Amino acid sequence: MDIRKIIIAIDGYSSCGKSTTAKKVAARLGYGYIDTGAMYRAVTLFFLENKISLTNPKEISKALSQIQISFNHNPRTAENEVFLNGVNVEKEIRKMYVSDQVSEVSTLVDVRHAMVAQQQKMGKKKGIVMDGRDIGTRVFPEAELKLFMTADLHLRAVRRQQELLMKNQLVNLDEIQHNLEHRDRIDSSRTESPLRKAEDAVEIDTSYITIEEQVDIVVEHATSRMLFAANPVLKD
Ligand code: DC
Repeated sequence: MDIRKIIIAIDGYSSCGKSTTAKKVAARLGYGYIDTGAMYRAVTLFFLENKISLTNPKEISKALSQIQISFNHNPRTAENEVFLNGVNVEKEIRKMYVSDQVSEVSTLVDVRHAMVAQQQKMGKKKGIVMDGRDIGTRVFPEAELKLFMTADLHLRAVRRQQELLMKNQLVNLDEIQHNLEHRDRIDSSRTESPLRKAEDAVEIDTSYITIEEQVDIVVEHATSRMLFAANPVLKD
């Protein structure tokens, strides 16, 4: 194993810029990037398409056994896109009807266990940036670098609205803000690995800093952790 390769875990509230930052950090470091939210969104899409009852454990476990999630690099967009059972669902999973249900699906213990197991496999070789809600607390509690991102709710809603507009989806700002609040509440209060800041995570408030500044901060922390991983006698 290359000792300079570390795991960078990025957790935080919805639409704080986690995935944009994570993608750019991964590109700068030559690391892989895994968007774990996309995995929960793909499961949600499958559940919606197949009308899986969220209160029927048998149906849920059967559905989970039929779900295959993978990421494939799209050279045209230079992005990792998510595939559900071999079908590219990258666009579909970002739509509001999926966003409206994903937090409820993400509270299900069986769903979480299945996703966490896959994520742990994906990051086993290190050299990875993974973003989500429980990466530093549950998926990789031993990650060398943990970040916890926050931002003002209204600013997050405005950013999300712009992102959706870029994808030709016009959604009312109040609806987006309501969805973010709703997801934050469920993500933070669920019993199974709720969203919380790991004790050793570095907190970054992204309200008034640019994406490039966020990336610089993370890369700076990562560089010192990589040095530390290579020379454990150095002080962090
Ligand atoms: O990052 P995102 O907004 O695409 O994530 C969608 C939802 O998935 C989020 O509201 C909660 C859930 N999620 C989770 O529970 N655990 C993760 N590691 C990632 C996402």
